[in-house]
Amino acid sequence: MFSRAFSFIAFLTLFLSFSFVASNPVTIPQAGSNAIKRQSNADIESVLNDLQDQVGTILPQIDALVSGGNATDDTVTPLITQLTDALNATTASLADLNTSSTSTKRQSNDDIANLVAGIVTDIANSLNGLLGSADSIPALGTLLSGVDFSLNQVLVGLETLLAGVLNLVATLLVDVAALLRSLAFGLTLASLGL
Ligand SMILES: *[C@@H]1O[C@H](CO)[C@@H](O)[C@H](O)[C@H]1NC(C)=O
Ligand SMILES: *[C@@H]1O[C@H](CO)[C@@H](O)[C@H](O)[C@H]1NC(C)=O
Ligand SMILES: *[C@@H]1O[C@H](CO)[C@@H](O)[C@H](O)[C@H]1NC(C)=O
Repeated sequence: MFSRAFSFIAFLTLFLSFSFVASNPVTIPQAGSNAIKRQSNADIESVLNDLQDQVGTILPQIDALVSGGNATDDTVTPLITQLTDALNATTASLADLNTSSTSTKRQSNDDIANLVAGIVTDIANSLNGLLGSADSIPALGTLLSGVDFSLNQVLVGLETLLAGVLNLVATLLVDVAALLRSLAFGLTLASLGL
């Protein structure tokens, strides 16, 4: 927990310093490609951190419905809509970043792959909880295929920015693949090659 908090603070510091650079482009006419690359990866991480935050508030509510035995179309649908909304917004934000300035730095691609794999794992775990209540959620199949579609869009957008990153993500999701299969996340599985 502490080290997570610490690395978040370290990241925030890094991100803020890059934001500072970005907000003062006139003062750094010779920033160099390295600075641009690192800033762009910070942008990607920032978009994904936003997604992680949103997912982190939505999924516990789904978990609570499952554990309380209250998962129905009426209770689950608004939360799944929030989830796909967050995924769609992420896809749009990623599309706003420029492909030309993305990094090929192995270390930072690993960080991004870890972040994405964590988000996919959290989503897969919580949604799998719903499968046990499928009888009381007739819309579940439709809702899940919507999540698959929107999640896949995020992955595709990420691969466009950081070619090869999905290979890294896939290696982290070998154990999660079975969950994705039980959710029938065919698009996501195909993009990950799982
Ligand atoms: C879940 O349903 C029970 C009764 O079935 C109710 O007491 C409880 O408040 C409900 N919880 C939520 C989160 O709606
Ligand atoms: C997410 O995007 C898909 C495809 O563009 C769309 O069909 C869906 O309605 C969107 N969902 C939300 C909640 O915005
Ligand atoms: C992306 O590129 C376009 C045109 O090449 C430019 O107008 C825009 O400011 C760039 N965006 C970022 C975030 O660098």
